[in-house]
Amino acid sequence: MEVIITSGPDEIATIGADAFCHLLDRKPEAVLGLATGSSPLTIYDELVRRHEAGAVSFAGATAFTLDEYVGLPADHPQRYRNVIASELTDRIDIHPGRVHGPDGLAEDIAAACAAYDAAIVQAGGVDLQILGIGTDGHIAFNEPGSSLASRTRIKTLTAQTRVDNARFFGGDPEAVPQHCLTQGLATIMEARHLLLVATGRAKSEAIHHLVEGAVSAMWPATILQHHPKVTVLIDAAAASRLALSDYYRETYASKPAWQRF
Ligand code: GLP
Repeated sequence: MEVIITSGPDEIATIGADAFCHLLDRKPEAVLGLATGSSPLTIYDELVRRHEAGAVSFAGATAFTLDEYVGLPADHPQRYRNVIASELTDRIDIHPGRVHGPDGLAEDIAAACAAYDAAIVQAGGVDLQILGIGTDGHIAFNEPGSSLASRTRIKTLTAQTRVDNARFFGGDPEAVPQHCLTQGLATIMEARHLLLVATGRAKSEAIHHLVEGAVSAMWPATILQHHPKVTVLIDAAAASRLALSDYYRETYASKPAWQRF
């Protein structure tokens, strides 16, 4: 696991966008794993900026999103399919038909989840998956207690996550759907490169567990310790509870530029 403690949002945007651009440079038909939430937004904005400047094209790429609320109407602005479109995919040249997300309106949820996992495999697997992290250590919507071997499935959101996400629903936790579909932890672990982004002190406990804690379903993100290629991109506040922060800083500072991604 590589931990990069950045100077803040600008550096996160640059390093995160570099990861996507370097991948698309060597593999224009790459499969991208996209995440909603606030954390990836500076990276998405930087990708849009580079795309508009002609520096990167997504025309050959395919994308899969991590998760979706169950039951939100197709035109609901907080439906993750709509969120990812307005935050990124409508602003770049990716083909809209190649942006996939779990179907939160499916009649047969189990079949839709199995089909989603199969579609990722069929596309060749995710090359680069961007991830945020919940204050309770969830990734995608794999809440504490999630099986570390889980596949895409329906989950019940915790009260904490509904409070955290209430800001997108007029501040009312009751307005946040109770159920969601989410890629499982084992599904996410199959991506070739995982890029987890977090900022702010509220994420520091989750980041502490992710990087230096024991692997446990109580802190689902800790499964990433078993992945061979994880980049943790954080600011100083999110890093504030890391015991080895000086070491991570030193390691990244001494890394030759050609070794970065
Ligand atoms: C939601 C999403 C996660 C995201 C998390 C953190 O619960 N399902 O994918 O990582 O929120 O969001 P934020 O980046 O806004 O803090």
